[in-house]
Amino acid sequence: MNNTTRAGARHVVILGTGGTISGRAASADDNIGYTAGEVGVADLLVGIEAPAGIALVAEQVAQVDSKDMDFAVWQALVSRCAHWLAQPDVVGIVITHGTDTLEETAYFLQAVLSPDKPVVLTCAMRPATALSPDGPQNVRDGIVVAATPGARGVCAVCAGTVHSALDVKKVHTYRLDAFASGDAGPIGYVEEGAVRPVRSWPEARAAGSQAAVDKIAAVTAVPRIEIVVSHAGAGGAMVDALMASPTAHEKTGPLRGLVIAATGNGTVHHVLEAAALRAQAAGVAVVRATRCVEGRILARPGESLRDAGALTPVKARIALMLELLGLPRAER
Ligand code: SIN
Repeated sequence: MNNTTRAGARHVVILGTGGTISGRAASADDNIGYTAGEVGVADLLVGIEAPAGIALVAEQVAQVDSKDMDFAVWQALVSRCAHWLAQPDVVGIVITHGTDTLEETAYFLQAVLSPDKPVVLTCAMRPATALSPDGPQNVRDGIVVAATPGARGVCAVCAGTVHSALDVKKVHTYRLDAFASGDAGPIGYVEEGAVRPVRSWPEARAAGSQAAVDKIAAVTAVPRIEIVVSHAGAGGAMVDALMASPTAHEKTGPLRGLVIAATGNGTVHHVLEAAALRAQAAGVAVVRATRCVEGRILARPGESLRDAGALTPVKARIALMLELLGLPRAER
């Protein structure tokens, strides 16, 4: 299951990054009191049979609880995905990942790679040590999707459902079927080792993605972008504080971007809006993204702060980061 045994077969590469799927608890009936990111990716494959004609290659890229996901891991993932996707014998990639920021990594990888082969993020809601862990079936389903002819783009597979990177969102704190695709609906379902698609796969980038891959590899300072929520009684103090302390912050440099997690169809409390407009006037890129669970912002004429369309606040933050790095964002 490594690079030296690759002769003569079609391969699916499994990249491990940590998460609950590789979590370990002290007792088998504990599904929440575990430490994420402990079991190695090769061990996650024990007992999982690859589809006929497919051999598996395992590689550990990171071992983190995905609440701590950061740009350095994304850089490593982009680099390893680009490497493996370029190999003619590799038909697809599966990335094992924590559920908490899976949608962010998926969106980032789709925007940067737009691959013409499948890159499948999968996960688990129960640790590997659980009485009845969900990880092994999710990994097996992820491998099935990665080996499916015609599949392409970055997607997520969880509880037998295939979600596009653009639409996927964690919607439940505990249920095994923790993800949804909102209005768009899933790409398809995995049933008994076969994919039943119900809509098309994400588009691959016609011109290829090498320039974007190179650009991500070269990033040394990630533009600082923060998310501020508009809510009943919201004020401007958060934005003013972010503007006033441009360098005395653990993150890199001054504030470059601001995502307002806006109410409803992109509305913002008038006091927060005034602060956001001051930030925009001072050169900060400001975007409104709806905090609603479903739907998109329908643009209205005369808005002074641009909107993120269907992107959630966390995905809008990544889109803005890519824009500030001079890279295309992913959208439908
Ligand atoms: C994580 O996101 O790494 C922990 C939670 C999970 O995977 O469900």
